[in-house]
Amino acid sequence: MKVLFVASECAPFVKTGGLADVVSALPKALKETGASVRVMIPAYPALASLVASGRELLREDDGFLGDLRITAASAEGLELLLVTAPHLYNRPGNPYLGPDGRDWPDNHLRFAALGRMAAIVARKGIGRGKSSWRPDVLHAHDWQAGLGPAFLRLGPPAAARTVTTIHNIAFQGLFGPEQLALLNLTPTEFHIEGLEYFGNISFLKAGLVWADRITTVSPTYARELLSPEFGMGFEGILGARAGDFTGILNGVDLDVWNPVADPALAANFGPNDLPERSANRRELLDRFGLDLGSNAPLFCVVSRLTRQKGLDMLLEVLPRLLARGAGLVLLGTGDGDLEAGFKAAAADSPTRIGVRIGYDESLSHLMQGGADCIVIPSRFEPCGLTQLYGLRYGCLPLVARVGGLADTVIDLNEAARAAGVATGFQFSPTTSTNLASAIDRCCDAFRDRELWEGMMRRAMRHPVGWDSSAEAYLALYSGLSAVPESGKCI
Ligand code: ADP
Ligand code: GLC
Repeated sequence: MKVLFVASECAPFVKTGGLADVVSALPKALKETGASVRVMIPAYPALASLVASGRELLREDDGFLGDLRITAASAEGLELLLVTAPHLYNRPGNPYLGPDGRDWPDNHLRFAALGRMAAIVARKGIGRGKSSWRPDVLHAHDWQAGLGPAFLRLGPPAAARTVTTIHNIAFQGLFGPEQLALLNLTPTEFHIEGLEYFGNISFLKAGLVWADRITTVSPTYARELLSPEFGMGFEGILGARAGDFTGILNGVDLDVWNPVADPALAANFGPNDLPERSANRRELLDRFGLDLGSNAPLFCVVSRLTRQKGLDMLLEVLPRLLARGAGLVLLGTGDGDLEAGFKAAAADSPTRIGVRIGYDESLSHLMQGGADCIVIPSRFEPCGLTQLYGLRYGCLPLVARVGGLADTVIDLNEAARAAGVATGFQFSPTTSTNLASAIDRCCDAFRDRELWEGMMRRAMRHPVGWDSSAEAYLALYSGLSAVPESGKCI
């Protein structure tokens, strides 16, 4: 099985969130099953040295989109196909935002180029002779890759099948209808059953309409997406394609997230040597300048600071958390109001609340390995990876019962306590009152060391790898070879 992954991010090269982790880890897990996977991403500046040492395999001069090339490179256990187009991607900072913090004005062209090259490689393949490679499946991730399946299906017949994975329906790739010609699309495609979305072009919708199959990153989010509350306007199209739509749970790269060997930790540990873990807690408290006794729980947050993540509610209930004697360390960037709110809280309680505004991969590992509990009060969460890292590192997740959070954490309720199966704390619906009660329950549980350590050991043994989900993707791809070309809606 040959699969072309197409995405805008891939860890450790370029990462703004969980998409990058999945696009890096899933190909490695698929490789274990015998599949051959190439990952196509834009050649941002962080990939310049790989472009310089790589092999140029394809060149395309595409009117509006300009000179587009594909450079092949191998790194970090991945086979990369880098879309090389300096006029589109050679820009500093975040893959999506300019220095003013706003979307690059030509993002439609930047990601149309990604879709264009994906369709070309899926149709014709790359390389010559023995080293030639043509995918059986084009697997597009999120809106940035959404035009890939569309360009493939709208061109001459092609053997490759297509899958689109929704990592977050809130990001829809919307652009004005005047861009249609620039994108080499015709008014025929600008239609309610094509890529038209409330008067705009939606790259995500293109990916959903023209893909043979659609997946999302947890079974619960797949169900939620069919409702207006979570579907964000896409519930109709997803409902219409319900037979082609499934949820497959994300996993964790067990080599990157391994407390037994993680170099970012002050002390390595496993479920059988939990006392070692306390050195990480001390290191974390030192780094944030906190003073917290070992009887008081240390909560942590590692997150984008956005409305999705519900951290405004955590700000609201901080007095309760402090009243329980607990502490909090937070690492994140995002909305100015949330950044300011948490910084002010840290200034008010400097020995109990520590805040780091920024992005720090290594610190995020230490936080999972040193804090007692990771708080994720999301309003919606397609899968969520930080609760999985928390499980693996014995940092018990306290989560809103939505999306993948609902699927991966077992709440310490009476039944779970009696059965000895709990791995964390859930609350629902997502309100600040329910979050506060969950924090209370967590603080109560923390006082019972035997209970808490039992939960830690269980959490750390909970299977969070990719094995079964990689098999599920493989089965999905295999099932596609029998499917006639769909070209779904128009
Ligand atoms: P999302 O993709 O919605 O942001 P996920 O939980 O799926 O949420 O993935 C977030 C990923 O980004 C995790 O790997 C998490 O550790 C990482 N992350 C988020 N914010 C930061 C940060 N400020 N510093 C380091 N890593 C971060
Ligand atoms: C998105 C979602 C997150 C998910 C990640 C990887 O960013 O917000 O819940 O874990 O994609 O699939």
